[in-house]
Amino acid sequence: TRPRIYLTQKIPEECEGWRLLRESCDVKVYDEIETGHMIVPRDQLLRDVRGVDALYLALPVQVDAELLDAAGPQLKVIATKSVGLNHIDLAECARRNIPVGYTPDVLTDAVAEATIALTLATARRHKEGIQAVHGGQWGKTWESSLYLCGKDICNSVVGIVGLGRIGLGVAKRLRAFGISRLLYCGRASKPHAAEVNGEYVSFDELLKMSDFVIACCSITPENHHLFNADAFGKMKKSAIFINASRGILVDQDALYVALASGQIFAAGLDVTTPEPLPPDHRLLTLPNCTVHPHLGSATVTARHAMADLSARNALAGLRGEPLPAPVPLI
Ligand code: GLV
Repeated sequence: TRPRIYLTQKIPEECEGWRLLRESCDVKVYDEIETGHMIVPRDQLLRDVRGVDALYLALPVQVDAELLDAAGPQLKVIATKSVGLNHIDLAECARRNIPVGYTPDVLTDAVAEATIALTLATARRHKEGIQAVHGGQWGKTWESSLYLCGKDICNSVVGIVGLGRIGLGVAKRLRAFGISRLLYCGRASKPHAAEVNGEYVSFDELLKMSDFVIACCSITPENHHLFNADAFGKMKKSAIFINASRGILVDQDALYVALASGQIFAAGLDVTTPEPLPPDHRLLTLPNCTVHPHLGSATVTARHAMADLSARNALAGLRGEPLPAPVPLI
């Protein structure tokens, strides 16, 4: 009999991964049209996974002991269509010998480009500019030579928190802007930092010296709310904070205070807590806070490659073969 796979999100039909899955598996796909919810409701998910051999999931579906129990002991592999893994209880998967596949590399360029876009938009106050144009304020104030003036990237000191694949991609692009120094911090220094003349410093030094602080790190149990009142207090008043990691990295109450009080100049967030951020959230009332709806990997090319790689991860796991992109064991 064919193995059973459950997908929490459709794979575009033009993707090779879709053809491969259909060829060899009994495929069940969550249908958001039928339910009217983009994300599978938890109770339905727990019912739908019963007896499946493979699970293909998209953010923000949470994988924990409850879900693994609901699936049953025949579950052979989990394929997440993401590079981030904080929605998965990896220790629980390891305990049950269930390999987990993810999608590094194929989204690096897309996320790096999105991070540059957010950095520029935040530094050059695009949100305020667009709001002024739409609101009819353009022309009322632009005679001032400092109207909506922002910050230069050229000649600035950039600090990257987490110089992994994505952090390196961001750093390479920023080098082309003519930055003066590239600092980075993380659990260990990285040989590839030489490619961008990266200087390994402590988190505190990075906060104190950087004009741009850009978070590109993965989430660990240690870095929840790494960006708290203390961290924002160490940053320059002219500093810009960008988060391309996960919302949980930031104490949003502390960020609100830092932005509202002028402790830092501005922030650009591609990720928040929760997601989606409610439209009446107080961060959105701040002119100097730009929020994007988690668009990091949102290009057709990257999303197709992520879907294909996830399908190949799932198929390899079903065959008992090594996954093309296994989550490294910690
Ligand atoms: C996006 O946030 C991802 O983890 O792929």
